[in-house]
Amino acid sequence: MPHAEIEVLIQNSGLFSLCNISYGVGDKELISAFVERWHAETNSFHLPIDKSVKSVSVSYLLLFNNLRMCGGYAWGAAALTHLYEQLRDASYFNTKQLGSYVTLVQAWIYEHFSGMGRRDINPSYDEHLCFVLLVILRLLKNVESQHGRNLLSNGLGATPPMGWNSWNHFHEHINETIIREAADALVSSGLSELGYTYVNIDDGWGEMSRDLDGNLVADKTKFPSGIKALADYVHENGLKLGIYSDAGYYTCAKRMPGSLGYEEQDAKTFASWGVDYLKYDNCNNGGIKPLDRYPIMTRALMKAGRPIYFSICEWGDMHPALWGYPVGNSWRTTDDITDNWERMLSRIDTNDVYADFAKPGGWNDPDMLEVGNGGMKKHEYIVHFSLWAISKAPLLVGCDPGNMTDDTLEILSNAEVIAVNQDPLGIQGKKVRMEGALEIWAGPLSEYRVAVLILNKYGDRHAVISAEWDDIGLDPSTVVEARDLWEHEILKRQFVGKLTVTVEPHSCKMYVLKPIA
Ligand code: GLA
Repeated sequence: MPHAEIEVLIQNSGLFSLCNISYGVGDKELISAFVERWHAETNSFHLPIDKSVKSVSVSYLLLFNNLRMCGGYAWGAAALTHLYEQLRDASYFNTKQLGSYVTLVQAWIYEHFSGMGRRDINPSYDEHLCFVLLVILRLLKNVESQHGRNLLSNGLGATPPMGWNSWNHFHEHINETIIREAADALVSSGLSELGYTYVNIDDGWGEMSRDLDGNLVADKTKFPSGIKALADYVHENGLKLGIYSDAGYYTCAKRMPGSLGYEEQDAKTFASWGVDYLKYDNCNNGGIKPLDRYPIMTRALMKAGRPIYFSICEWGDMHPALWGYPVGNSWRTTDDITDNWERMLSRIDTNDVYADFAKPGGWNDPDMLEVGNGGMKKHEYIVHFSLWAISKAPLLVGCDPGNMTDDTLEILSNAEVIAVNQDPLGIQGKKVRMEGALEIWAGPLSEYRVAVLILNKYGDRHAVISAEWDDIGLDPSTVVEARDLWEHEILKRQFVGKLTVTVEPHSCKMYVLKPIA
């Protein structure tokens, strides 16, 4: 589709939706400020094709009337102002940037108006917002498929990566024995056979100074045998080795240099050591924008002579979901997780905003697992693991694999939940419904199956919750067989229209629904 036509379509669909969502909106002062601004700026509004002028004017009139009539929520007007600004600017942007503004708007609204998305507040607003986002995303998808655009093309990350990382449990207190023992434990516990193959060394592995040739050097006390020896060791055990660096002058712990300015040299070093995975952090970056730092490493890795999974760890600062796919195999969407219920949930909620940007080869990363580190109860860790799995998050174990309780191993070894995460369709599940602290998450799987997670976030009461076909993407008349992924059994009854279950406090149930009629 020609560029100009896309612009017009986007403007029109955007304006149409603005009209619709303006029902029920209302702080009067904000509205009149918005209308005034709209009025002043539409005079200079960029309209590439004449025939669109008419519909834009009609839309504008409708919008104006709606705004005049309504009363109520300040957030609505503010959101509209912002959306409008983005739409206006969008007409001068290229199509890639158009993708960015959609999620920026979405993220901005979620950040400033945490009530958004709650059907009990204002269903029509939410639905219309979704409409505008969907229309635009769809247009962008066309554009994207016309110009295949993955620069990285390293063939890695067809499904989310699985393995272990040293940070959440050991922090910088690592050495080669700890890494070797973690590798051994992945094998002896059976986790490696289930797919957990990356053994990832996080911050704290290097000397403070590079050598005379400018090469990174492993810490001589903590890693006396060097990284290559470790890579050889894990490879002999059928595993892969990951390493950590930073798109800055120092890593976050500040005890070793980052790779900024040394990208090609460091990528070559990593490749020569036999490294298979690079986590690339964002500290001490001199205020240089991520898009001016991360792609340099992408190109360096492409030239390094060995496929290396590139894990962008930018913490979601500049919405890496918008630009991450051509640059890396996954991108952190949030800052660091900690081992507690609230923080775990807030990571996955932030991550959920970007669901549409994940796909095979490039995944949203809500940070590594805390399962087994002791800060949550077993049923809470089950929620943690289930949410990560359905969200197609990297499954990187963050506990000490040499000291796992039976419960920890049971959770991490749930092959049915892992299969949801690793499903070849590679579509990230989303939060599709929420009422108070009760949530339904769902996502399509291969063979027309659907994964469903039914969550009770209340800490003090059980709840009877229904997942309705309407919400989870099944035709209302579809009859399904439901397999409970934590009880490991197919429910006796078959279901049509909805699945109603009782869920204990801070717990979830997870099912795969298979259409049978
Ligand atoms: C940042 C990252 C963490 C970890 C530490 C290491 O905080 O987000 O995952 O790598 O740095 O210092």
